[in-house]
Amino acid sequence: MSGSSIQAVLERIRQAKVPSRCDVESVLGVTDEGDVRRLFETADDVRRQGVGNGVLLRGIIEFSNYCRGTCLYCGLNGANVQLGRYRLSDAEILAAAEEIHAAGIKTIVLQSGEEADLDPRWLKGIIDRIKSRFDVAITLSVGEHPREAYAMWRRAGADRYLIKIETSDPELYASLHPGMSFENRLRCLEDLEALGYQTGTGNLIGLPGQTVQTIAGDIEFFARGHFDMLSVSPFIPHDQTPLAEAPTGDLMMTLKTIALTRIVGKNTHLPASTAIGSLGGRDERPRALAAGANVVMPNFTPKRFKSLYDIYPGKARSDTLPEQRVMLVEKMVTALGRFVDLSRGDSLKARRSAVLAGTQVIEDSAK
Ligand code: 5AD
Repeated sequence: MSGSSIQAVLERIRQAKVPSRCDVESVLGVTDEGDVRRLFETADDVRRQGVGNGVLLRGIIEFSNYCRGTCLYCGLNGANVQLGRYRLSDAEILAAAEEIHAAGIKTIVLQSGEEADLDPRWLKGIIDRIKSRFDVAITLSVGEHPREAYAMWRRAGADRYLIKIETSDPELYASLHPGMSFENRLRCLEDLEALGYQTGTGNLIGLPGQTVQTIAGDIEFFARGHFDMLSVSPFIPHDQTPLAEAPTGDLMMTLKTIALTRIVGKNTHLPASTAIGSLGGRDERPRALAAGANVVMPNFTPKRFKSLYDIYPGKARSDTLPEQRVMLVEKMVTALGRFVDLSRGDSLKARRSAVLAGTQVIEDSAK
């Protein structure tokens, strides 16, 4: 693409409510260095206008790796009998929450595999106790559950929920998740949104069978959904899965997708994901932050369990002390001319009316 035409296409995508697939596909296909640079610059500009120069921090606690899921790409999938399974005790979860709070981070992400026998009341109790002790936002990332469970956790004070669509193509989804249901995944996203959660979704780049057209479809899905949070990560093959021999997701395609996701997502929160920090042993998160991302998620899972949360190989497992983690992110982001923002980092989108009685609704017109 010539310099002027990429700029025109990027401008069309930036102005459109839902960009044309054709424009998005052509940008995903660019290889010329100057074109790629213009894409990243446009995304960086949208990021600056939409969310500013601050980089938000979310502290993650991976509290269990039990999973009933069948996701062919994931090391935690229920069929992987080689993996030792763990679940943190209440005291261990609260101690990790305390560490996150002490580090000055105001969002706690409670993440786990999709536990078949998760007792919703148990998780409600954990939310209650974290909320009563610390002034923090809680993000849940625990998979597909009935609407009633989502409602119980929301009433207990959970603020946000992450559940990735992984791919927006129903056929590709079916091929990668035997026995699971794409429709149920969508149902979860709808329920969460209706219950007033700040809702996040996302995809993986490099899934076997995925094409540039599929990725353009994902970006359209993101644009139509007005999500509060969006995450784009590279697929990294795991030895103990059926996709062990598949190639690793392409870094450049991941960065281009992050950039386009920022351009359509405007003020959506978008992490430089841990998977980008783990690709081929190099931490590429600075490149994600320079291509539209504005969130980093330091891990506070207790050290002895970290290696068991084995979604993909090489998952960055730094041995840093909890109190050093913010400083390390600070080092990374100041090198980019940015700063660490230790506020809660709630959604900047206007909330749709929440159906849950008593739910606090944040009104704003920027959606
Ligand atoms: N590579 C990268 N990300 C993965 N995930 C699962 N398996 C992999 C993999 N092999 C991501 C999925 C899922 C989350 C738990 O981890 O996007 O939503």
